[in-house]
Amino acid sequence: MKILITGGAGFLGTNLAEHMLKKGHKVMIYDNLSRPGSEINLNMLKTKYPELEIFRRELDDITEFLTTVDLDIIYHLAAQVAVTTSYESPSSDFRINAQGTFNLARHSKAPVIFASTNKVYGDNVNNIPIEEHKTRYDFSGEYEKKGIDEKFSIDSKKHTPYGVSKLVGELYVREFGGVANRFSCMYGENQFGNIDQGWLSHFIFTKLRNKQITIFGDGKQIRDILHAHDVVRLLELQAKNIKKIQGEVFSIGGGHENTISLLELTETLGMKPKFGNWRPADQKVYYADTQKAKKLLGWKPEITKEQGIERLENWIKDNNLHKRRI
Ligand SMILES: NC(=O)c1ccc[n+]([C@@H]2O[C@H](COP(=O)([O-])OP(=O)(O)OC[C@H]3O[C@@H](n4cnc5c(N)ncnc54)[C@H](O)[C@@H]3O)[C@@H](O)[C@H]2O)c1
Repeated sequence: MKILITGGAGFLGTNLAEHMLKKGHKVMIYDNLSRPGSEINLNMLKTKYPELEIFRRELDDITEFLTTVDLDIIYHLAAQVAVTTSYESPSSDFRINAQGTFNLARHSKAPVIFASTNKVYGDNVNNIPIEEHKTRYDFSGEYEKKGIDEKFSIDSKKHTPYGVSKLVGELYVREFGGVANRFSCMYGENQFGNIDQGWLSHFIFTKLRNKQITIFGDGKQIRDILHAHDVVRLLELQAKNIKKIQGEVFSIGGGHENTISLLELTETLGMKPKFGNWRPADQKVYYADTQKAKKLLGWKPEITKEQGIERLENWIKDNNLHKRRI
């Protein structure tokens, strides 16, 4: 297959590119390298796979670029990725995530598989009853242990500007025959997390640098973490089954068994956190119901949270990344 990965030098893109290159596919990466750490990822990929084609470009230029390539599938992962930045600069968030995704979906001849977000559900998630336990919150009632599926209402307020721009992009991708994934929290090797995005990686880097972590809120918020290995398996299955799933949307995460709270993570890592104010629109509880992906694609996560956290920590240590300025 001839594959274009926008955002291919980022965390998820690098894992996907490496997997596809190993399988002998022709892979092109389109990335402006704005994410700190993306040059490190790209150097690793270039050294291991000289056949990789790299286009260092802005998403603004995607329409013209698409006239120059012949493709079987596009994974659209390039984005303004942080909720915090979307509040500071909603116009550029809109330009990259909404307009950029529209341009790509509109002008692509190949089907597009898009990375959307659970933030498209907005404040509705926060209206689900929750219970407070010793180290975590959890849903109570209808959604307890089951999580949020694709039918959950997106008709609300407080999506965050990032949630709105991703929702716009998602709707256009599906309108033009592509597929969208509403991801919750992904993590794994090649992830250079920072205070704004990639919290699990950020926590581990902070620990290895012997610094103190700040938790925003009380630390009982939970997410269903999904390891990159499982995301890549899903994205590959989606390309293989693209005719069957065009126009669909999937709710994707690690599921209830892979939920972890910030307090539980710091406990696992042996860190003593300090606490700050809650961030705007932070969900106290989120986990995905991934039954649709199981039913249509036979997919479910394989890597447990314990295995995944160990793999991420080992990748940072083995490459001495915590000792580098990134
Ligand atoms: N990581 C998560 O937990 C998570 C959760 C939900 C959704 N997502 C979505 O998944 C996708 C991949 O996320 P990630 O964690 O790998 O992010 P990442 O920041 O590691 O990768 C994104 C890549 O896009 C590139 N990029 C950013 N703006 C660009 C632009 N204007 N033009 C060209 N390239 C640009 C960056 O340089 C980076 O390499 C994103 O669309 C993100 O919104 C991620």
